[in-house]
Amino acid sequence: MMKDAGVWERKKQVIGMKNIILIGFMGTGKTVIGRVLARQNGFAFVDTDKEVEDIMGMNICQIFRKHGERRFRSEEALAVKKLAKREGVVVATGGGVMMNEENAAILKENGFVVLLTAAPELLHERISRKNTRPLLGKNCSYEDMMKLLHEREAIYASYADLTVDTGELGVEEAVAAILAAYQSANEARAEG
Ligand code: S3P
Repeated sequence: MMKDAGVWERKKQVIGMKNIILIGFMGTGKTVIGRVLARQNGFAFVDTDKEVEDIMGMNICQIFRKHGERRFRSEEALAVKKLAKREGVVVATGGGVMMNEENAAILKENGFVVLLTAAPELLHERISRKNTRPLLGKNCSYEDMMKLLHEREAIYASYADLTVDTGELGVEEAVAAILAAYQSANEARAEG
């Protein structure tokens, strides 16, 4: 049956469009995919790591070194509180954001949560290439990475509205899969 376009548009305005929240382990492609996703959906792009770096005026490694992880986590939680109030944003979260229940609840409230995953071998290859992550640096061991991944994966999964394997899909394909699921979720909410 054809939908009445006017009614449909009004319904969409009433339900509002949720933000899109990308979660998952380091190296799953949250920032790269988030940028393209935001552009294609006409949303702004925000990265929690970048927000914290801008506020502190230094990069993540310097923050950990000078102030410790606790301070980083508290700045990260402040950044989450601030950006969750915004509308029309794609948020790429740092890999530890959803380990804090309050962060997760705030983001989930007005967010369509997408978990990005990839095979551990691929994650290790991506992570051990760079030295920008204080928890798992360049040449980090596969075992250390797996330990952290095991601690976290069930928690990530518990918040996900959708899971996308970024090892299987290219950036454009991953973005298309996310947008299709996001649009059907919006339509289901509008009809419901
Ligand atoms: C972290 C992930 C990083 C960054 C920080 C801590 C984590 O973000 O927030 O190094 O605890 O998993 P990415 O997931 O964007 O690499």
